[in-house]
Amino acid sequence: MMKVIVVGTGYVGLVTGTCLAEIGHRVICIDKDEMKIEKLKRGISPIYEAHLEDMICRNIKEQRLSFSTDMKEVAEDTQVIFIAVGTPSLEDGDVDLSQVEEVAREIGKSLVSYGVIVNKSTVPVGSCVRVAQIIRQNLRKDISFDVVSNPEFLREGTAVYDTFHGDRIVIGSRSKKAVEVLRELYKPFHQKFFITNPESAELIKYASNAFLATKISFINEMANLCEKTGGDIRAVAEGMGMDQRIGNKFLQAGVGFGGACFPKDVKGLLKTGEKYGYDFKIIRQTLAVNEGQKQKPLRILEENIADWKGIKVGILGLAFKPGTDDVREAPALQIIKDLRGKGAQIRVYDPVANASMQSVLQFPITYCNNPYDAVTDCDAVILLTEWPEFQELNLRKIRRLMKRTIFIDGRNVFASEAMGEKGFDYYPMGIGSEE
Ligand code: UGA
Repeated sequence: MMKVIVVGTGYVGLVTGTCLAEIGHRVICIDKDEMKIEKLKRGISPIYEAHLEDMICRNIKEQRLSFSTDMKEVAEDTQVIFIAVGTPSLEDGDVDLSQVEEVAREIGKSLVSYGVIVNKSTVPVGSCVRVAQIIRQNLRKDISFDVVSNPEFLREGTAVYDTFHGDRIVIGSRSKKAVEVLRELYKPFHQKFFITNPESAELIKYASNAFLATKISFINEMANLCEKTGGDIRAVAEGMGMDQRIGNKFLQAGVGFGGACFPKDVKGLLKTGEKYGYDFKIIRQTLAVNEGQKQKPLRILEENIADWKGIKVGILGLAFKPGTDDVREAPALQIIKDLRGKGAQIRVYDPVANASMQSVLQFPITYCNNPYDAVTDCDAVILLTEWPEFQELNLRKIRRLMKRTIFIDGRNVFASEAMGEKGFDYYPMGIGSEE
């Protein structure tokens, strides 16, 4: 059992801290947001993550997990301190490290004995060195410490599951002592360790996200070619995925990737390339292709609608993927803005993300409590998130409620034949017709 501090209670920090408590460590999660900490002390999670709230409550009760706004907690016999604060994109795509740097200063001021400081935030290559520098400058006396890179590979919505079932734990450090501390910390997870230097560990995180994003943009380009040639992207992806060197994951064509990670990290890696005088051509295109995919529903509508006066469009799904209420960089955001630019009336429904969309959109649209309400009287419907409940939709009812028959399936949830039979003009992603 170790004493662990986790600074930052976003989804990475909170999930990591809670799961470490679950395996027996004594964990204090720190955040400067007092309201958040007050709620957490009462067992209320600020984010929706499957199993997380139950786990928080259990570990508070069993006195392994506590919450505080005060960094002074670091002072006493803490072995490991995680930095898990946000690293948002700046206007120019560069990474804003100000929160990480502020925490490093605080750690420097509070450290009283040897500790391993773990960079869990997604930070550009070179950040371990930078954090160590800041800590050293702020130490009150001569104390030894190590800064380690230990990136996370958690997906939003399945973050708790991923913590317990990760493919690998990457540790970037040149200190044997620090590596041993982390091996011990993570031992109960029974996962493969991959030990390397801090720079490589920092790059592994960006490389993994950028590669997955590139896989998505690649399959989306293949989908666009399928539409022109009569191919079916679902078959193409399945056939490709049977080759184990390619793998069958992340080959779902659609309206593009979103979320708090892929767009930010791809831009961050591009920026790192620029800083070091390297033009990262592939991932530049990954982003460009993704922007194009997000515009695809509008292009389909423009081909089908001559006069936009009085046009009503229904949107099913707002979250950037199912299982979350997160709409950050969601394709829905771009598509709603484009439709508004055309003067369309917009009706939307998402099982959980209506409220988050309402809080970020600066203009009014109609939020509906069920999918049928969202499609009523609409000239076109666009499905943007593959929520499982959409598979159960009564499509005949949808067809009846709509004014016109355009149905754009941005996530290939339905079968073309069935949609045609029900009278829709159906536009899936990447499924070409025979003629
Ligand atoms: C992603 C990575 O998958 C995690 O490994 C990583 O830890 C995380 O970012 C992070 O850096 O924190 P996440 O953003 O939660 O996780 O979501 P994903 O499930 O990866 O999906 C990202 C986007 O890609 C979604 O918009 C999804 O709809 C889209 N996607 C995914 C596709 O369009 N096609 C696919 O085949 C897969």
